[in-house]
Amino acid sequence: MKLLSLKGQNIGLLKGEFEFEFDQSLTVITGPIGCGKSTILTMIRASLTNSFPGTASSWASWGASPQEACYFVASWRIGSRVLHIAKCVSGDRDFAAMNIPRLRIENDDGTIEDVHSSREALERTHSLIPVPASIIDGHLIVDQDSITAPVASTPAKFKETIHTLTRTSELELMRLKIKDLLCTVTIPDVEGPLAEAQAEVNRLTGEENGIQKRLLEVNTHQSNININEVNADLETQQLLRRNNERMADLELYVREARSSLQFLDSGIVSQTVTLAEVEHRLLSRHAKVEEAKKTLYSLDASRERYAKKLKLQDHLWNVSASIDDLTARIADAPACEKVPADYKVKAQDVRASFNAEIAALKQRIALVEQGNCPTCGQSTKCPVSVEDLKDQLNGKQLELEAVTRLQKEISDCIDAWERYDNESKVWVALLDSRKEEMMRITSELESLADAVEVGASEAVELKALIDSHAADESQRTMLNASLTHKDKQRAELNGKLQEYLRQIEDLPKKKFDPEFYARLMHNLETYRKLDGVRQGLVGELSATQKTLDRAQDRLKVYLDRKAKIEPTLRFREVLQLSEKALVKDALPKLLSAQYMGKLNERIQFYLRMINAEFTAHINSDLEFMAKKSDGLVHKANRLSGGQKQQASVCYLLAVNDVFASTLGVLALDEPSGAMQESNSQDLAEAFNYLANLGQRTGRQFIVITHSAALAEYGCKQIRLEPSK
Ligand SMILES: Nc1ncnc2c1ncn2[C@@H]1O[C@H](COP(=O)(O)OP(=O)(O)OP(=O)(O)O)[C@@H](O)[C@H]1O
Ligand SMILES: [Mg+2]
Repeated sequence: MKLLSLKGQNIGLLKGEFEFEFDQSLTVITGPIGCGKSTILTMIRASLTNSFPGTASSWASWGASPQEACYFVASWRIGSRVLHIAKCVSGDRDFAAMNIPRLRIENDDGTIEDVHSSREALERTHSLIPVPASIIDGHLIVDQDSITAPVASTPAKFKETIHTLTRTSELELMRLKIKDLLCTVTIPDVEGPLAEAQAEVNRLTGEENGIQKRLLEVNTHQSNININEVNADLETQQLLRRNNERMADLELYVREARSSLQFLDSGIVSQTVTLAEVEHRLLSRHAKVEEAKKTLYSLDASRERYAKKLKLQDHLWNVSASIDDLTARIADAPACEKVPADYKVKAQDVRASFNAEIAALKQRIALVEQGNCPTCGQSTKCPVSVEDLKDQLNGKQLELEAVTRLQKEISDCIDAWERYDNESKVWVALLDSRKEEMMRITSELESLADAVEVGASEAVELKALIDSHAADESQRTMLNASLTHKDKQRAELNGKLQEYLRQIEDLPKKKFDPEFYARLMHNLETYRKLDGVRQGLVGELSATQKTLDRAQDRLKVYLDRKAKIEPTLRFREVLQLSEKALVKDALPKLLSAQYMGKLNERIQFYLRMINAEFTAHINSDLEFMAKKSDGLVHKANRLSGGQKQQASVCYLLAVNDVFASTLGVLALDEPSGAMQESNSQDLAEAFNYLANLGQRTGRQFIVITHSAALAEYGCKQIRLEPSK
């Protein structure tokens, strides 16, 4: 970055138009006191930082009219473009009329970009210059009064300038951001649960091994018992025992069968004897019983005829009584004389004519009593007597009563005769059938005339004989059946007996050994117990393995979790380290590693160049220290005024080397102001070197001085005239 030119009008003492060209390596600005040299640096700085000592408007030339444009344009080359930065301190309207852009960017490819908004122009300028404004201001463009400031300031102030240079404040902001970020990084506690899960897995693995060991022991014990042999021997012994038991059972069955057979045989013998007796009895009584049956049959027939005779006699008596009754009823006709049935109607008609006459009489009496004629009904004084009419009425009513009584008698008589006629028809029919029945009974009785009563005792004896014979017959049947059954039972029993004997013959005769069997059982029991223990252990092992699996799953989850949070942990660690490293007061070491070594080296280089009688360096606490030839080390602010200026200039040159090599410009206002002529001469030589260095490295120096000797070394001199 190089300043090419500065032109404008009415800035401070530079009233009217002005234009200065700058050399690319060393430009020296000279002139008498108060001629406006420092004003040029003010413009250079303001073009980059927009900062004016006091206010911008205070830089308008005194006496310039308020309308008159007071401005300057600084032209800078930055890389492949030239920036024309315009600053107007007063007379904006006039300046606007000139149509000078606040920023013109001329690219080497010939394109031009104009920015007219001052705010936008400032932003673009800052984006294009390679060093922040805070470093330019005070370190790369150094005021007349500030030349000794780096050495003369307090250690704290100096530390702050170093912080500014090293952009530590920006780092501090970054540290605070990291601190905030650290607060957001939360990591769940995995170590505790992980250790617990690991302990659980270890415990369960131990348990599993223990169970496995016990299982091995049980298996060894079991393998000592030849269980197949034991089972085979046991089976043999059990078979023998079953055979022996079966033999005992069979022998018992044989005994029982034989005694049953004996019992059956004696039964058969006694029943056969009884049967023979019964047969004999039946045979001897057979003819007598047949005779008795016949006799008993005829006795029964006689008894039946006699009983029928008695029954018919009873019946005949009843029929005869019924005939008498019916005959009496038929003879009992009504006492009144029989009249024709239409008399009932005739009697009713007679009564009706009487009733009509009575009604007519009652009407006539009523008319007469009203004073009307009883015949025509007219109101005339007829000579009819009411009394006569009433007598007639009474006569008629008496006659009606007599007729009514007669009518009832006739009606009763007719009803009685009707009833009698109907009933007597039935009675006559019944009487005829009774008479027929009587004739039938009478003829039947005649056929039973010889039937007589038979005596009971003879029949009883016959019956007893027949019954006794029947009892013998049924006993014979029963005995025959029983004997048949017993024969069958005997055959069955005999069959079974033969079967038992055959089975006894078939059974092996070897004996069961109880002692050997007990030993075998003991072995089997031991084996089974071990089996039980083994099964228990297998179950325990399976449960433990399941629990172990679960514990291992849990452990895996925690290990996964740990693996997952590992990057976060590392991230947090890095953040913590960064945060620790970026603590402002902990930075010197870092800085010394990065910058301080180089800075100190450059300070020594320039001090040697100007043959200073002391060396200076910045220590790890960021203090500017000086070391005299006698070896005494003290803070640099205790150097003399001239030494301070030497140290400061060397420091500024070093800072420019280290921090602004990209900016490539250093402007110093009276760097040799407080120096002895001899020292100043040294500085001049140093400037000569700088000019060469500038030419070689493309570094631009702008130095204001009133030292004619120093001015000689400038590649270009801008000589200002004394102010008028
Ligand atoms: N707005 C202004 N208009 C006109 N003159 C001004 C204005 N402000 C300051 N001055 C004058 O400018 C001069 C200061 O200029 P400057 O500081 O650039 O001089 P200098 O050449 O650097 O002097 P020195 O050699 O003493 O450092 C003073 O004489 C001051 O009165
Ligand atoms: Mg000055």
